[in-house]
Amino acid sequence: MTDVDAVRERLRAVEQDHLVRFAGELSDEARATLVREIESIEPESLPRVIDRYVRQKPEFAVPEGVEPAPYYPNDPARGPRQWDRQAARAAGEALLRAGKVACFTVAGGQGSRLGYDGPKGCYPAGAITKRPLFQFFAEGIRKTGAKYGVTPAWYIMTSPQNHETTVAFFEANDYFGLGRTDVVFFPQGVMPAFDRETGRVLLAEKGRLALTPDGHGGSLKALHVSGSLDDMARRGVEHISYFQVDNPIVRVADPVFLGLHASVPDSSGEMSSKMLPKVAPEERVGIFCRVDGRTTVIEYSDMPMERQRERLEDGSLRFLAGSIAIHAMGVEFVRRLNEDPDFELPFHRADKKVACVDVETGEALTPSVANAVKLERFVFDAVPLARASIVYETERVEEFAPIKNAEGTDSPASSTAIQTERAARWLEAVGVDVPRGADGEADCVIELSPLTAVEAEDLRGVDLPKVERGARVVM
Ligand code: UD1
Repeated sequence: MTDVDAVRERLRAVEQDHLVRFAGELSDEARATLVREIESIEPESLPRVIDRYVRQKPEFAVPEGVEPAPYYPNDPARGPRQWDRQAARAAGEALLRAGKVACFTVAGGQGSRLGYDGPKGCYPAGAITKRPLFQFFAEGIRKTGAKYGVTPAWYIMTSPQNHETTVAFFEANDYFGLGRTDVVFFPQGVMPAFDRETGRVLLAEKGRLALTPDGHGGSLKALHVSGSLDDMARRGVEHISYFQVDNPIVRVADPVFLGLHASVPDSSGEMSSKMLPKVAPEERVGIFCRVDGRTTVIEYSDMPMERQRERLEDGSLRFLAGSIAIHAMGVEFVRRLNEDPDFELPFHRADKKVACVDVETGEALTPSVANAVKLERFVFDAVPLARASIVYETERVEEFAPIKNAEGTDSPASSTAIQTERAARWLEAVGVDVPRGADGEADCVIELSPLTAVEAEDLRGVDLPKVERGARVVM
């Protein structure tokens, strides 16, 4: 029996044997690729997934008794939860000095909204020099090393689609000054796109499945199967600082957050999150809630708008805490999840247009309406699996300037404006005048390298530039 015959048998058993219908027309090499792709999607696992997520559209019901999640306010003096910032910082700094923290970037997404053709981390995000996103993170990690004496190892999850280009980018840029053994790349898993009507897996071409990355939630499994968890253990890493590829001003290893995560009594040190107060009920971010005593994130699209508009007596939003996809995770927590044979995060369904091949005629189809179901896992669905998970409030200008869209909100333009504002504040905090217009906006553009500062205090004692009106300053 040839490889194709063997795989055809397996596919027939799950009513997906159309996938090898054109195998006879392929070169040996193309056929081998097709067989590999089919094996990678574990055909036997498909019927359950199709029944649950494709043949029916899972209805999400907001759980009874859902409450807003409590959080550690950015200003410790502001109630209801008082906490000791110095103690948290000291605990986090101790972890960093002991080399117990690794950084982790999920960079497997497709960046299609931005319209950028290439791994998103290569996107030129610097306000002036066009420093790529990856360089911002690399410099933040180097600065962390300079401050605490140990440079955190950096794990980067790619996708099979962008893995090689990502690694080549680091090679070409000499790893942005990091040691090459301290940057670990691994690709995430994939999921096939399904025909919305029939539940059949779509063929992108006669010899290729329509595959997409399985969502950032796939990172928890990928950390394990790639051997990264073992690698972390070998290095003595206990906590993972998790962030997305789209945010140039993220704090790659924030001692205060890591300290809270690892040391406060109501955290199990398993999975913690940063939040920002939502600017409006309509802001499209996941919401931190409390369900049956557990912290949970409910996607904005799953929460009825009338609930999101609920307000407290002081006028503030009741469900205020928006997720900015920054987490701290215990290495042991991720290992525990992977060792549980029943562990799996749920899929979230999106109906999309996916170009494919007509399985009857072999003709290429470009759909004009959604013809496909894509399934993704979200990392924040692991939050309620932690025994006790805390949420920490941060400030928008301090660490959230994502680049997601070509224009408008979360665009290159909005990101560079926030980059400048943050640098301006930090300069002002150490006594440098920054010209501002009548509207209070900085009248200049500033690009700050994380090598210079990852927080305002780092600017003390540094030779700082004078900032003229209308100036463009790189520092
Ligand atoms: C995400 C969050 C949202 C949060 C916002 C903050 C989800 C569903 N939503 O939205 O709650 O408020 O960020 O910025 O997560 N990625 C992979 N592999 C994948 C898919 C994505 O590595 O298969 C990575 C991307 O490279 C990127 C990140 O995950 O770094 C976010 O992906 P994206 O799908 O763009 O999420 P957002 O819609 O931005």
